[in-house]
Amino acid sequence: MASNQNLVRIAMRDGYYNQHSGLQHTAMCSGLKLIPKLADGMLNIETDKTQNSMSRLPITDVDRAPTLLDSVSDGTSVEVLLEDTPLNDFSTLSKTLHAEFYQSSAERQISFFPRMIPVGFYNRIVPSQLVDLGVSWSSMNYLKTQPAFTFDPQSTAAEFAAARHKAFSSTARQDLASFMTLRASEIRKGGHLVAALGAQKPALEAKQGNSGSIPLQSALVKMVARGLLNHQELLQFALFPSDERTVEEVQEVLNLPEISKSWSIEVFEPELIVHPAWAEYQTASDAAGADQAKKEDALRNYARSAILNLVSSSGWFWLDILKAHRGSDWDGGDEFFEELAQASVQEWVEKFPDLKVEFWYIYLRAKRVVED
Ligand SMILES: C[S@@+](CC[C@H](N)C(=O)[O-])C[C@H]1O[C@@H](n2cnc3c(N)ncnc32)[C@H](O)[C@@H]1O
Repeated sequence: MASNQNLVRIAMRDGYYNQHSGLQHTAMCSGLKLIPKLADGMLNIETDKTQNSMSRLPITDVDRAPTLLDSVSDGTSVEVLLEDTPLNDFSTLSKTLHAEFYQSSAERQISFFPRMIPVGFYNRIVPSQLVDLGVSWSSMNYLKTQPAFTFDPQSTAAEFAAARHKAFSSTARQDLASFMTLRASEIRKGGHLVAALGAQKPALEAKQGNSGSIPLQSALVKMVARGLLNHQELLQFALFPSDERTVEEVQEVLNLPEISKSWSIEVFEPELIVHPAWAEYQTASDAAGADQAKKEDALRNYARSAILNLVSSSGWFWLDILKAHRGSDWDGGDEFFEELAQASVQEWVEKFPDLKVEFWYIYLRAKRVVED
């Protein structure tokens, strides 16, 4: 029986994440090449899933890179274990599965057995040594608990990010160690874990990543000044329990004797993933030529895509904070988020028109060693 369920609602906002997760989709596509060819027979694939991501998993798109189903031969039986926190939108996931996965697997005579598991990944999810392949995209940065942190609203965005990372990093290390240990129990010896983890800029790289959170933070501070958010709410927003680890922090955990005895690291590659809306923006801006109004429209559309991605990823957590302060029957969430999106886009256009949303990821393929 799972005992460790973290019921802080860090699940993605129902319905919204589906439409606004282009960055994570791109990150996933870049990791599909790491999925090993799996042996024939009954296979178990364990994967973290949100409400949607089956719809974005290009299972049915033959033009894409290899997919989960491409890694198995026709005629194979595949049990796909889709796990997420109990507060995830499993209802949307089940409809997406029905629409996308079954058709594709039927065409290739793959017997497909989905199982949904509403158990967070800091718990044992399945019985020992059941899984052939574990897959995790854009999720291992979420922490088990909320580390304590008080931020100074006067700090610059860079100071805020550094202070937050310092406060969160020890929990993030422990959580990564716990994640790897738990998966080592579940993934069969000789099996693999493939993951893309949001990360900090590698030390030797010059280029900083940028999630687009700076205009959003700037808009939040302005919303406090306008009386749309109070100071306490703003402070609690900053506690969103997620941390992008440094390359060194991840390596340190993987090198711990208790982890390295179970895992051999086959691939460990940082990669900068660009939000796909950036390329669309460049095309629209070029097409606008000298038309400044059209250029600004293109910038606004781009900024909105990036902001909605952040809002849909953090929205439930923020909404729960607002409800804790304003009363459980407060129903101004959609209005609040729309106001936040508009204010953030305005900040973006006025102060950060050249901001390119790109995010460092660490791509990992770890093999469960046969002897440990
Ligand atoms: C940014 S989304 C990524 C979803 C999907 N893998 C993708 O690539 O679009 C992060 C996911 O991690 C899930 N998550 C966060 N903490 C978790 C935990 N402790 N256990 C399991 N899933 C968790 C969230 O519910 C959400 O579905």
